[in-house]
Amino acid sequence: MVLKYSTDKLQSLAVESLVLFVPTFEKIRDKSLKELDTASAGGVKTILSSGEFTGKEGEVAAIIRPRGYKAQRAILVGLGEYKKLNPDSFRKAAGTVSRFRGLTTSKTAAFYLGSYENEKFYQAAIEGYLLGGFQLLDFKSRETKENESKLSQITFAVEGQVLLKKVRSAIERGVIIADGQLLVRRLSFTPANFLTPSKLAQEARRLARKYRFNCQVLDEKAISKEKMGGLLAVAKGSTESPRFIVLKYRGSRAAMKSIVLVGKGVTFDSGGISLKDRLNMHEMKGDMSGAAVVLATLVTAARLKLPLNLVGLMPTTENMPSGSATRPGDIVTMRKGLTVEIINTDAEGRLILADTLDYAGKFGPEAVIDIATLTGASLYVLGYAGASILGNNPQLLDRLKNASDFTAEKVWEMPIWDDHRQLMKSEIADLVNSGGRQAGTIAATAFLENFIGDWPWAHIDIAYCDLEPHGKPYTPKGATGFGLRLLVELLSNWKKLV
Ligand code: BES
Ligand code: MN
Ligand code: ZN
Repeated sequence: MVLKYSTDKLQSLAVESLVLFVPTFEKIRDKSLKELDTASAGGVKTILSSGEFTGKEGEVAAIIRPRGYKAQRAILVGLGEYKKLNPDSFRKAAGTVSRFRGLTTSKTAAFYLGSYENEKFYQAAIEGYLLGGFQLLDFKSRETKENESKLSQITFAVEGQVLLKKVRSAIERGVIIADGQLLVRRLSFTPANFLTPSKLAQEARRLARKYRFNCQVLDEKAISKEKMGGLLAVAKGSTESPRFIVLKYRGSRAAMKSIVLVGKGVTFDSGGISLKDRLNMHEMKGDMSGAAVVLATLVTAARLKLPLNLVGLMPTTENMPSGSATRPGDIVTMRKGLTVEIINTDAEGRLILADTLDYAGKFGPEAVIDIATLTGASLYVLGYAGASILGNNPQLLDRLKNASDFTAEKVWEMPIWDDHRQLMKSEIADLVNSGGRQAGTIAATAFLENFIGDWPWAHIDIAYCDLEPHGKPYTPKGATGFGLRLLVELLSNWKKLV
């Protein structure tokens, strides 16, 4: 995609499609709409009075060959109410228009967002455009390219040179962030027979080389040496051997402590001997979404040259049933030395995360954030709409909430109480890995809490937010890439925790 910028009048832009982002209106007051109305012999008035286009969210309309414009068509896309405009209004509108035939059949277009001086609107718009058009065609034998967008050049029409400078860097940032999120979607969507733990490690190595950060991969032998009993217990049932992936990005020369990101990388979760129901089991190819977010966050941080030191940890394995699989009732010793009675082999995520959180202590971290498709109970907590966040540091959780205000990836804090900690105690070992059906999302976090050190920690449960069931303006049906924007926004504003 070639991106250009112009401060010229809209009429003079030589592009196939001119896209105008428009908030709801009852009468034409806006100058650019007035001019377009005149040029189309009352075309804007006509679609307004017919109710075809009033600027509401989700609305799109085209006006063909407006006189005096070089563009062949003007496309209007609704932003919703003016008073409620925020970055996500632009993300959504751009996502909607990204699949509009009039635009996808054009090779060149200009986007006019209005006269707002908020460069974040521009960042959000390019994010929405790039995210909205995502399709995974890698597995189609005959490329069904018919619906693929032909658009290869977007010119941002900006009012004034001062704003243009800010817009340019906001757009560049938006492109890098959208790329990162698309990487998460691609990895999450890729089936488990293509994305095995060793393939994920290979992909991590490739990306680390490309974007110049460090990647080290521990194979099964090295994992045994680390005594990661949780990870080994999960991996035992599979013919695919596990990998423990360590990423390091140094963007700060100062002796700054690292922020450690931990992502659950179960490339397929069948449940193991505690086999899952067959319904929707195929979706468990996405149980490595947390690890994908961590990998893509390191890539994005490196591309944005964030002045931070980051460590990314991705424990990756399959969870399969077999003669060599861990059984319900087995007791395993974790890296930390704590013993865990395996009640349910489907509660595997917490086992691999626990060893990884313990390992994270090695880095003397400034903070540790883990992200995981951890509990099915998430569906009953916040549904597909957002992620539960939990942890031991109110400031860190507040920062996640603030980041989510801009990125529109909703998060909500849940507590961890002694009642929940109680659920995770075993009669014959130190802990159980499943406390039954109650408070599943919290109980899993109460388990993890046993493995953290004396550092700020936040846990993000992205189960179900990693999948979009129907399709939304900038989120087509399927893998969402939830969490990438959130972590990148958090890290971009990072200041030492006090
Ligand atoms: N990967 C699943 C959680 C999940 C379920 C994510 C559905 C996305 C959609 C996790 O490993 C799991 O199976 N958790 C169990 C734990 C239970 C057995 C204690 C759950 O939440 O049902
Ligand atoms: Mn499971
Ligand atoms: Zn799982």
